[in-house]
Amino acid sequence: MIIVKSPQEVEAMRHAGAIVGQFFEEVRDLIRPGVTTWSLEEFADRFIARHGVRSAFKGYMGYPAHLCTSINEEVVHGIPSRERAVREGDLLSIDFGVVRDGFYGDSAFTFPVGKTDELSARLLSATRRSLAAAIQEARPGNRLGDISAAVQATAESAGFSVVRDFVGHGIGRSMHEEPQVPNFGKRGTGPKLTPGMILAIEPMVNAGGFGVEVLADGWTVVTRDRSRSAHFEHTVAITAEGFRILSLPLGNIG
Ligand code: MF3
Ligand code: CO
Repeated sequence: MIIVKSPQEVEAMRHAGAIVGQFFEEVRDLIRPGVTTWSLEEFADRFIARHGVRSAFKGYMGYPAHLCTSINEEVVHGIPSRERAVREGDLLSIDFGVVRDGFYGDSAFTFPVGKTDELSARLLSATRRSLAAAIQEARPGNRLGDISAAVQATAESAGFSVVRDFVGHGIGRSMHEEPQVPNFGKRGTGPKLTPGMILAIEPMVNAGGFGVEVLADGWTVVTRDRSRSAHFEHTVAITAEGFRILSLPLGNIG
């Protein structure tokens, strides 16, 4: 069952999302060669305290940190580490979520560290565009498959592949609600989208094949062929007018 939110609940979700959006506005300025993923985790810890919110990820199924920091061939769920510094040319994906007044916000971005190679730049661009295309489909009357198909068409027409084993999700008073939001699928299939539905849309796009595996730490997901991967995510509400991106900083339109 998909939980439809009231206009008041959508406003509460906007506030949770705005805090997540504000985090990304601030963290992007800290990313440069030599920075450890642990130092970003420490920044997240202070950010959470400063905003009086709760971490969405830490403790979730035993996950040990506020952030997921996934570098290069790591797709998602990389664990911040004191031993891991990013280098010039790396791709760093950061995934972050909070709970504010009982409502979840969830978002992810992949950042180039300094200047990156051309393939990586194209991967970032295609993944960002696949999320944008998906968001455009998030409107009443469309179906869930229209979102999935938009991600897949955008990523694959750029020569890349979409991860099958991890998907986006409904979000609200829980981080993961129905429906699952795959990044592949067929137009015109799946449940109809109606105002008040809120989805975390999160394309994970690989430069090589779509296969992934989990490392021995039990969390870090990497591409099977060790090609690079990118991940962008927004929390998005379906409204009567169309879509509303909830995980943008306050002050942004919408
Ligand atoms: N954005 C991810 C998700 O929606 C974050 C979960 S990471 C976890 O599932 F560590 F909390 F599992
Ligand atoms: Co998510």
